[in-house]
Amino acid sequence: MAALEEGAEAPRIKSFALRVGRMTIGQKQAFDKLSEQFSLDPKQSCNFVNAFGRDAPVIVEIGFGNGESLAKTALENPDNNYIGIEVHTPGVGNLLAQIKREGITNIRVYHHDAIEVLEKCIPEHSLAGIHLFFPDPWHKRKHHKRRIVRPSFMPLIAKKIAHKGYFHAATDWEHYAKHMLKVLVDAAHFNNQNTKQDYSPRPDYRPLTKFEQRGLRLGHGVWDLIFTRD
Ligand SMILES: C[S@@+](CC[C@H](N)C(=O)[O-])C[C@H]1O[C@@H](n2cnc3c(N)ncnc32)[C@H](O)[C@@H]1O
Repeated sequence: MAALEEGAEAPRIKSFALRVGRMTIGQKQAFDKLSEQFSLDPKQSCNFVNAFGRDAPVIVEIGFGNGESLAKTALENPDNNYIGIEVHTPGVGNLLAQIKREGITNIRVYHHDAIEVLEKCIPEHSLAGIHLFFPDPWHKRKHHKRRIVRPSFMPLIAKKIAHKGYFHAATDWEHYAKHMLKVLVDAAHFNNQNTKQDYSPRPDYRPLTKFEQRGLRLGHGVWDLIFTRD
């Protein structure tokens, strides 16, 4: 590997590998027609009231996949605003199509890397919560460094979540669950909702996702971790 020039920043290890997924016609049409209306600009700081046309608690979902569970959560919790962040274009198209089809008014979307969005677009201590459901587990040991939950992730989300806001992660991969629990318990400013420093039961607001249903069919367990920001 070439040496970095003095003062240059090491390239950040991304938590995703862009998949070459084909878009359905419906996803492509939704992506082309609706991005302007529902997508946010990853180059600018976000003014939530302008983005949603109202003032309400804002919850970010990182890596919403095909968006089905985010759409369901937003419909069932009309008093919250939701910002979904996803790099996978067909998933974004899919969510935009659902937003239109179901008349959902409380979701906005970033088609971009969530780490960069959190850094550049989300004002400090502005979020009621962050959801991270079934993040890529990066099974192989040599890929563990790509997991989005790592010690350097915690100060970033601590800066964006409001006082008494929360971080909720769920995974069906036990090794990743244990890793997350350790990272979260060790992180400054976060307190486990489970005072035994263990996992939490799935709260009603988290619908079963496609990945979870698949995991359950394969006989995997599911682990929820819910931590409150002090
Ligand atoms: C295993 S899938 C789970 C999708 C969904 N949450 C679910 O449970 O069905 C993980 C998703 O996170 C997305 N992702 C991973 N890292 C990301 C990042 N840094 N920014 C935005 N999306 C990311 C991937 O593109 C992928 O769609």
